[in-house]
Amino acid sequence: MIILGIESSCDETACAIVKNGADVLSNVVYTQIKLHQPWGGVVPEIASRAHVEKISGVISAAVEEAVASGAISGAGDINAVAVTYGPGLAPALLVGLNAAKGLAMSLGVPLFGVNHIEAHLHTPFLESETDPGKAMPALGLAVSGGHTSWIDMPEYGEYTIIGQTLDDAAGEAFDKAAKLLGLGYPGGPVIDRKAREYDGHDFIAFPKGRPRPGTAALAGLDADLCTSFSGLKTALLNYVRKIRGDDISAPVPDITRICASYQKAIVDSLADRTAAALKRRRYKSLIVGGGVSLNGALREALAKVAGSAGVDLLMAKPKYCGDNAAMIAGLAFYRQNLADDAAMEIDVHPSLEAGEDPAD
Ligand code: KG4
Ligand code: ZN
Repeated sequence: MIILGIESSCDETACAIVKNGADVLSNVVYTQIKLHQPWGGVVPEIASRAHVEKISGVISAAVEEAVASGAISGAGDINAVAVTYGPGLAPALLVGLNAAKGLAMSLGVPLFGVNHIEAHLHTPFLESETDPGKAMPALGLAVSGGHTSWIDMPEYGEYTIIGQTLDDAAGEAFDKAAKLLGLGYPGGPVIDRKAREYDGHDFIAFPKGRPRPGTAALAGLDADLCTSFSGLKTALLNYVRKIRGDDISAPVPDITRICASYQKAIVDSLADRTAAALKRRRYKSLIVGGGVSLNGALREALAKVAGSAGVDLLMAKPKYCGDNAAMIAGLAFYRQNLADDAAMEIDVHPSLEAGEDPAD
């Protein structure tokens, strides 16, 4: 089955064509990073305007790429259209959803609505021989700019959130720190790079993002499987304030040590909660997806955690870690819970949770 996927939940306009959930026939991603850089973060109005400008060109490019490689002979070979309808920025999601509805209608093929977080957890299976069903039961870890969640996956296509951040997502924690340190946007890659330049072991003791048990924000989740990064951000702010004094834009000395210490606090926190979650039941694999999974220190830490727990670590190729549409088209092959008329009538769901049924 050949599915064309569309992704527009945040600052990437993307379209991809994927055969049978794994074979990527084309993958086109237009990133808006440059448009948002002057603002130090994603501006929803700028994002939706850029999606409107780019979406048809990106869809045509994905079809042309698949035709040029000889994988399909034209748009007529597409069997279905898939699109993410949440979570994400409402005005941005709307652009992709409307384009997908129009395209499915004009091609006369079914439309599938796909959850963006669930799709991140499909990325290790793209261009892979691994059958998702055989990797179950799995613990999923979605780490991106908007999300940090631990997800229990007993079967492929079943998702229950067992832990999450109570405030900032891991990527957001990287982005906010980089802004504070004057390192630009997005923060993850630059902090990763600066941290790598630090060759000492004298780390600043930043808080490890452990929520207090009994906190109302846990909403019934176990504190041992949740994180909170707002205290870490404040600790960095206080640390930097002490150095800068009254000159709030003064360059900060010792930047590589600060970045390495801040990154270590995030990575230790994610690795610790993952190790705790892996002890809760007998898992076969640990599936990691999302932009933050590009982080070198996190990849190393999770490899150790998975090794000691005796589970397979499944991570995406770097090009599928950030937002892309191959993950949308790929997951739609396996999970068609929102299809046909229901998908045609669906509105965007900016706060959609993994495993949530849109009809609930
Ligand atoms: O998955 P993604 O592209 O978009 C969302 O769904 O949010 O993730 C973007 C996030 C940003 O916060 C960015 O700073 C972070 O991923 N990121 C990284 C790295 N590369 C991207 N964080 C840490 N280390 C990296 N190397
Ligand atoms: Zn994402």
